[in-house]
Amino acid sequence: MKEPVKTVLLTGGSGGIGAATARLLAESGMTVYAASRSGKAPEASSGEGVIVPVVMDVNDEAAIASVVARIVAERGGLDAVVCNAGNGIAGPIEETSVEEIQAQFQTTFFGVVKTIDACLPIFRNQGRGRIVTVSSVAAVAPLPYQGFYSAVKAGILNLTKALAIETRRFGIQCCSVMPGDVRTGFTAARKVAAKAKDKDSPYYEHTVRGVEAMSKDEREGMEPEVIGRAILRQLRARRMRPEVTPTFVYSLLVWMIRRFPQRVVLKVIGKMYS
Ligand SMILES: NC(=O)c1ccc[n+]([C@@H]2O[C@H](COP(=O)([O-])OP(=O)(O)OC[C@H]3O[C@@H](n4cnc5c(N)ncnc54)[C@H](OP(=O)(O)O)[C@@H]3O)[C@@H](O)[C@H]2O)c1
Repeated sequence: MKEPVKTVLLTGGSGGIGAATARLLAESGMTVYAASRSGKAPEASSGEGVIVPVVMDVNDEAAIASVVARIVAERGGLDAVVCNAGNGIAGPIEETSVEEIQAQFQTTFFGVVKTIDACLPIFRNQGRGRIVTVSSVAAVAPLPYQGFYSAVKAGILNLTKALAIETRRFGIQCCSVMPGDVRTGFTAARKVAAKAKDKDSPYYEHTVRGVEAMSKDEREGMEPEVIGRAILRQLRARRMRPEVTPTFVYSLLVWMIRRFPQRVVLKVIGKMYS
């Protein structure tokens, strides 16, 4: 694909990884429609691109359709979509209710699917388009007390790769970016399953300790710009990679998790977080 990416729809553009990515893409000359429920977005500090803040809940199919139609009307097409909006729910698997599990899948899985679905007809008609999803290292590292978050991110990773195979013949490329710990509002926004807050829960102490250890890692994690730069690199690359884990340390970690005996992997993760 030789044509440069000029117009991007980015979800979760009001904060964290999304805001950092919006800024970097705009500074590199792209027009970024930064979507979120609040409709807030950063300003591009330099470069020729612009950030257009849009109110769009990824759970609202009508809102997504209207934003995509607006972009096509204003820009004559859409080159790429970055599905980044997401949230996390913590809690032991046994003590997370079906409603809480559904809430975890709502924005972070179905929101991605709905956004991609709205863009695919445009990309197929153009004969080109790029889809970037934001998964997580948690897709390959099964996190205790965040099991449903891990499940969602594993789902996003595999969905993105399956989509890459299905849409290649339409000129569409797909890439899933897997961040490790990043310092954003994600940590404070994380919900904890109601039952897990009960001190009589058999999981109570381990949940508190595990979630605090993960939150500490996130608070001490990398700047969101690291992920933004990785997304920018993929949007500029002639051929996007199906999966990208930013930073050498996290890509080594993913490599080790996939190759070491799973018994060893679970033991180490358990020692860290349980
Ligand atoms: N932080 C980490 O350590 C980490 C690690 C791995 C992966 N990730 C993933 O990276 C992505 C971005 O997370 P972040 O760390 O940047 O978190 P964040 O700072 O909490 O940002 C989340 C963004 O998503 C938006 N959002 C939430 N629900 C939405 C909805 N229903 N519709 C549209 N926008 C919505 C929020 O804006 P509004 O509230 O204005 O809607 C905000 O802009 C997530 O998918 C997360 O799972 C994060």
